[in-house]
Amino acid sequence: MIYLTGDCHGDYGRFSTENFPEQKEMSREDYVIVCGDFGYWDRSAWQEWWRKWLSRKPFTLLWVDGNHENYDMLAELPEERWQGGRIHRVSENIFHLMRGQVFTLQGARIFAFGGARSHDIQDGILDPQAPDFKRKYKALRSRNAWFRVNRRSWWEEEMPNEEEFLEGKRNLERQDWKVDYIVTHCAPTSIQAIAGAGSFQPDALTDYLEEIRRRCSYQRWFFGHYHDNRNVTEKDLMLYEQIIRIW
Ligand SMILES: [Fe+2]
Repeated sequence: MIYLTGDCHGDYGRFSTENFPEQKEMSREDYVIVCGDFGYWDRSAWQEWWRKWLSRKPFTLLWVDGNHENYDMLAELPEERWQGGRIHRVSENIFHLMRGQVFTLQGARIFAFGGARSHDIQDGILDPQAPDFKRKYKALRSRNAWFRVNRRSWWEEEMPNEEEFLEGKRNLERQDWKVDYIVTHCAPTSIQAIAGAGSFQPDALTDYLEEIRRRCSYQRWFFGHYHDNRNVTEKDLMLYEQIIRIW
């Protein structure tokens, strides 16, 4: 079985046995894939508690990165090859699917590509080393501003680098640009335009995904990031809290 869901932001209540009873029939060879913003943030007791809770689940939990992950912590994780692609192993049953990889799960070929530009930073990114950091932080906080702090709650790695873009294309080339499913955080430019009715700006990643969308044959494309559950087209599905079975 392969299930998919959208952004978790560190809250995994949807995977309780009550909310997701299908897990009773699942084993470690069955998968749930999160379309980014998994919520890999810090080593707080709260986060460690959840990760331990998830590690006791019967299934294997896979996630592509979103724009809200701690990329410093992610880079510290051991890298492995798994089912045809590169992963970071968080625990025995929780793996981060690295960008631009093709995985074959139970015969289904899945192209994974995380990352997205943050939408919630219009009031700026603060530098925690700056002398006026505390004052600025308090001021922004007090007016509920949309801001983040560099390398504490925002990382430039939320956007892929050139090598990741190239690796994705190389790996698709090896599959003759044919996969079963595509799992990303961000949507391709044209899909984002339909979904957001023009309220989201295209960027290097949405344009890259648009190129993939035009060149690659796929059955379904799943993405998170926009915090809604919607079939944008017959093939392109936006996911949030829903957990859906695809295989
Ligand atoms: Fe999100």
